[in-house]
Amino acid sequence: MSVTTDNYRLGMRHLPAAVSVLATGRGDQRAGLTATAVMSLTAEPPRIVCAVNQSASAYPALLENRTIGVNVLAGEQEEVASCFAGATGLRGAERFTAGDWREMSTGAPILDGAVVNFDCTIVDHLPFDSHSLFICAVQEVAVSPDRQPLLFVDGGWAGLMRASEEHLGQYRQAVEESVAAVTEALAAGRSPTEQLRRFVENFTHVNIAQSDVTREYLRHEAYVPQEAMVAINAAKDEFDRQLAGLLRAGVESGEFEVRDPRLAGLAISGMVSWMYRWYSEQGRLAPDDVAQEMADLVLGMVSGR
Ligand SMILES: Cc1cc2nc3c(=O)[nH]c(=O)nc-3n(C[C@H](O)[C@H](O)[C@H](O)COP(=O)(O)O)c2cc1C
Repeated sequence: MSVTTDNYRLGMRHLPAAVSVLATGRGDQRAGLTATAVMSLTAEPPRIVCAVNQSASAYPALLENRTIGVNVLAGEQEEVASCFAGATGLRGAERFTAGDWREMSTGAPILDGAVVNFDCTIVDHLPFDSHSLFICAVQEVAVSPDRQPLLFVDGGWAGLMRASEEHLGQYRQAVEESVAAVTEALAAGRSPTEQLRRFVENFTHVNIAQSDVTREYLRHEAYVPQEAMVAINAAKDEFDRQLAGLLRAGVESGEFEVRDPRLAGLAISGMVSWMYRWYSEQGRLAPDDVAQEMADLVLGMVSGR
């Protein structure tokens, strides 16, 4: 069976790819193009291979200069990608008005704010029908580890869902603050009723303060590495254990009436961590008042008297 060009193109639309700008030359002799056909060839020696259409305006300059900046774009660099794909009508050195450019050791154009820049010399080029493979020797690498890459898939720009170390660290801290909300309440209250009131107030404040961090975490939860998840879940278990203990003590003293303290604890923490939004968003109530309201609500629900 023969595959038509359209068929092939249709298939390739679904190969997700990182987006790079390949750039060469200096000053008003600079030229560049957006490319997804970029891959690692060998690590020893460090070589990249890029496939460039021989009809691309930058092609002769690449052949002549024998230097190339392989700039892997960050998510916020869509405009640079469009410009170097020719979408804005700018050509040659004019394209470099998009983005901030500098040089590294070879003198090829290096884009600021890219996820990674590979500063290369071109050591070989292999023509193949409409395209040529450029074999690039990497001379220098610059990495911005906190940036998310721009992707291209199914004819459009896309982003990578990734839980960054920074966000995970912030969320871990939010969970620890939640554990501290129970621990502090257990130490401060003289009776289970006082302890529960104090816990709900503390936990409401933690939820209000950490709501952006939690939201960001939930967006990326499916991409959190297993070992980070284990640590986070251990802290959550500790939180559940302490809260269940508080409720059990209240049942034993006759202050609370709940059938299953563990389940009641989960229901209370779940309710507090979502309900506070209703009270606090759009400035309905100040944080202290939200905390009061939540505490009255919870005590009304569990009170045995
Ligand atoms: C997402 C995307 C990926 C591309 N990948 C490549 C590529 O790998 N190789 C290539 O030669 N052209 C690629 N192109 C096309 C060039 O960017 C485009 O043809 C070129 O910049 C415009 O040609 P000009 O420089 O002659 O105006 C890609 C375009 C887009 C939008």
